[in-house]
Amino acid sequence: MTITTTDPGTTAATYTGTTRLVRGAAFEDGQLTTRFGTLRLKALPAGAEAALRALTEGDLDEAAISGLVVAGDGEAGLLRWQMLRGRLDAMGLLEHAVTGPDGAPLARLVAVGRGGTTLRPAPRGPARLSRHALLLPADGVLTLRAPGSPLAVELSAGAAEFLTRLTDWTERTPAPLLRLLATAGALNPGGPDADPETGRGAVQWDPVDLAFHARTRTPAAAPGYGGTYPHADRFPPEPAAAPAGGGPAVPLPVPDLDAIAAREPSLTEVLEGRTSTRAHDPEAPLTLAQLGELLYRTVRIRSTFTGSDGQELADRPMPSGGSVHELEVYPLVTNCAGLEPGLYRYAPDRHELQPVAAPGPATAPLVKEARDAAMMTGDPQVVLLVAARFGRVMWKYETVAYPLILKHVGVLYQTVYLVATAMGLAVCGLGGGDTTAFAAATGRDPLLEGSVGELVLGSRPPAQPEPSAVAGD
Ligand SMILES: Cc1cc2nc3c(=O)[nH]c(=O)nc-3n(C[C@H](O)[C@H](O)[C@H](O)COP(=O)(O)O)c2cc1C
Repeated sequence: MTITTTDPGTTAATYTGTTRLVRGAAFEDGQLTTRFGTLRLKALPAGAEAALRALTEGDLDEAAISGLVVAGDGEAGLLRWQMLRGRLDAMGLLEHAVTGPDGAPLARLVAVGRGGTTLRPAPRGPARLSRHALLLPADGVLTLRAPGSPLAVELSAGAAEFLTRLTDWTERTPAPLLRLLATAGALNPGGPDADPETGRGAVQWDPVDLAFHARTRTPAAAPGYGGTYPHADRFPPEPAAAPAGGGPAVPLPVPDLDAIAAREPSLTEVLEGRTSTRAHDPEAPLTLAQLGELLYRTVRIRSTFTGSDGQELADRPMPSGGSVHELEVYPLVTNCAGLEPGLYRYAPDRHELQPVAAPGPATAPLVKEARDAAMMTGDPQVVLLVAARFGRVMWKYETVAYPLILKHVGVLYQTVYLVATAMGLAVCGLGGGDTTAFAAATGRDPLLEGSVGELVLGSRPPAQPEPSAVAGD
């Protein structure tokens, strides 16, 4: 652990804090128009008006802004200007930046969510970047973000030296840059003996997980909740049912739901009897009819309809946010009476199995992974690989898109658990899988359709002791 201290190259004199109105702002006839809305500013004194106009055009330091105000309104005008400035800041209408020794902007605080941009003071003593800060390159701009913050810092090349140093405790950062980083929530003040990020709350979170959590659970930090249709102008919505694959499909018998309802245990009995079972009966394997019944009762498409946004939606026995139903089920079969081993895709609109891959080097890792995850001694009779057609959800939703998919996986797990239990089958959900192996076995583009869950399914052994209640978790 080192603490670097101030050197002559980083004095406040060479790095200057500047301010401007948000880009695109215009001031005309007493109206300030920005992308966030219009603000009426009646009867502004001449100096304040001159400062405001100048701030629509570019970055000014404090001395330049005060100079304009004093030139028009005298020293007495400064107080009124500060009040107006505070109001603009609270509304997030000002952008703060740091200019380097060459006069070029080094870093700029920008709003990425909702809220004000009032600068925090630079911390005294050593500081370093928050362990949760993330650096994101996109569209020619490198942006530093802290999870949950509505503000981010756009960085120019000259900032790299300071950021690299700020990965450890240092006092050699220009105060104007520290102010931006602190305001964006990306700075960790303290020192090796007073590090506020050593507590359980800060340590237990991986930065990527925290950013994901904050993005979906802090609407002020990342607008885009609900259906915002972020890509609707570039791509059409995907159909509710994926196009049929090649090869002869295996038709599945349609179960008689009335007969099933008449003989089946009650919901309470099913819920109370549900367990995870990690052993299958090789003497009497799962049958094609049972696999078909399970898929029919959990994930078949009962009907489709068109949403008000033009996207084709679906109705299934399990619920789905916005009725988008992006989940697909791929049974990976090693031992099922009446069905050749191999990888299939369940066509939920046609109630049939479409062949995807014969058993081989591409499917073997998926079987092994599921067997290991469930700590089974033999191969599971069937692994239900659950995949998401991401575009179904991402065409409509923005910040909630991926969390919604994970929630749907949970919904599918429980629906499969309950129906499998009611049918007397052995089922166990798994906590992890390999989307790369899934892509290799299916040939699907993992950015368009990838595995997001898996369950092992088979016939229930007569009276099988469990290897471990929490095996493989
Ligand atoms: C999302 C999820 C992930 C799971 N992951 C695994 C796993 O990877 N391996 C495993 O053997 N069991 C796994 N299980 C089963 C749990 O271990 C099991 O539900 C838990 O021990 C409680 O036992 P019960 O299901 O019999 O009530 C998982 C269950 C769920 C719901």
